[in-house]
Amino acid sequence: MPEDAPRSDGTRDTSTRDSLAARRGLDAPVYAPAEDSGLLAEAAVEHARGATLEVGTGSGWVAERVRTESDATRVIGSDVNPHAARRARDRGVEAVRADLLGPFRDGALDTVLFNPPYLPTDPDNEWDDWQEAALSGGESGRDLIEPFLDDLPRALAPDGVALLLVSSLTGFADAVEYAVDAGFRAETVAEESYPFETLSILALRHRE
Ligand SMILES: C[S@@+](CC[C@H](N)C(=O)[O-])C[C@H]1O[C@@H](n2cnc3c(N)ncnc32)[C@H](O)[C@@H]1O
Repeated sequence: MPEDAPRSDGTRDTSTRDSLAARRGLDAPVYAPAEDSGLLAEAAVEHARGATLEVGTGSGWVAERVRTESDATRVIGSDVNPHAARRARDRGVEAVRADLLGPFRDGALDTVLFNPPYLPTDPDNEWDDWQEAALSGGESGRDLIEPFLDDLPRALAPDGVALLLVSSLTGFADAVEYAVDAGFRAETVAEESYPFETLSILALRHRE
């Protein structure tokens, strides 16, 4: 979400957020693919194999690319937003409504992809709709990343890989530390810098 300049306290101006949301088609209820989606898709096409889940699939654009361009044998998209699950299905992606990894069986996933909502957001400015579900990572920016990492060790197959998009706005070092504490080796496999943030793709594998 590169163009949306943070304030000095790390939170964001809501008018900028609203114009960003409009440009991204978020006055519609589903996140429109952007630079972050593209970076995740490129890495996922290279790394995905076996049973693959894209958490927070949004429009299903990333999942569709993975389905058609990678070694994945089955690709599922999930999203807490029912409009997103429907949009992804319309695109031909197998998609379900789900909260993070909740419904997925232990060790069932060879590859997990997640471009999380990550904008640090002042609690007084939360706006309680599908835009918020797509963009806001709470005060730290990590409100979705941390519960995802808490449950990932359970759902990811022993030799599986998860690709997680992390923005510098979210606190790259904090996200890596949390992943390591959850039991993963973390390696940066893609990175792109924009005027207000750097986006990285972390590849996470169980530590032996
Ligand atoms: C930044 S958008 C990414 C959309 C798409 N993956 C892409 O890259 O274009 C984040 C997505 O996560 C979804 N999401 C938010 N909270 C979630 C949760 N608890 N469980 C599953 N999906 C969630 C949002 O609805 C939104 O579609």
